[in-house]
Amino acid sequence: MRKIILYIAASTDGYIARPDGNIDWLHDKKYNIPDEDFGYSAFLQTIDTTLMGHTTYKQVLGFDMPFPYPDLKNYVFSRSAQQDTVHVTFVRDGVVDFIERLKEQPGKDIWLIGGGQLNATLLNAGLLDEIILTYIPIILGKGIPLFSEEAEEHKLKLIPTDNKLYRNGFLQVRYSC
Ligand SMILES: NC(=O)c1ccc[n+]([C@@H]2O[C@H](COP(=O)([O-])OP(=O)(O)OC[C@H]3O[C@@H](n4cnc5c(N)ncnc54)[C@H](OP(=O)(O)O)[C@@H]3O)[C@@H](O)[C@H]2O)c1
Repeated sequence: MRKIILYIAASTDGYIARPDGNIDWLHDKKYNIPDEDFGYSAFLQTIDTTLMGHTTYKQVLGFDMPFPYPDLKNYVFSRSAQQDTVHVTFVRDGVVDFIERLKEQPGKDIWLIGGGQLNATLLNAGLLDEIILTYIPIILGKGIPLFSEEAEEHKLKLIPTDNKLYRNGFLQVRYSC
């Protein structure tokens, strides 16, 4: 069965965005390493579908660039009625059932983009298979957590072969859930 993989970056104290949703700290030029994309393009080859919470989707739309995943099947989750677009399909009800069915369909793996609320929903439902987490060497002190407070305790297993320390201080770890 295809896997659902959360591929995401977080501050060392576990936040994925500032309290207002800003991710400027993630794109600080001082972290650039020429010709290094931290495994992103290789990861993209392994997936054909994305899952996003509505807040994350709205943030992506605000990036002032074309929609970044036009060739993928993109699902956005919202509890209110939303109009599908050429790039995304909205899912309102029965999120867990919907994703269970999606996993059973043939295809490549599925990228859970985030954010913290949707991450918690999938974790609690036992639908998350792996996490590829890139820790950024910064303490934010406050912000939007990697998993919202609805998340239940869950032990992870480190996949020892798939961890990498980059020379800019990024630490990428892969967990099986
Ligand atoms: N650091 C990174 O790599 C990274 C990656 C991804 C996201 N982010 C950041 O994460 C932040 C957003 O995270 P977040 O936790 O605030 O929000 P989120 O999970 O992206 O979206 C929350 C919204 O998704 C919908 N939703 C969530 N769970 C649902 C469910 N079970 N059923 C139906 N709809 C559901 C609801 O939309 P409605 O309100 O429309 O009902 C909810 O308000 C953004 O600032 C983004 O930039 C960072």
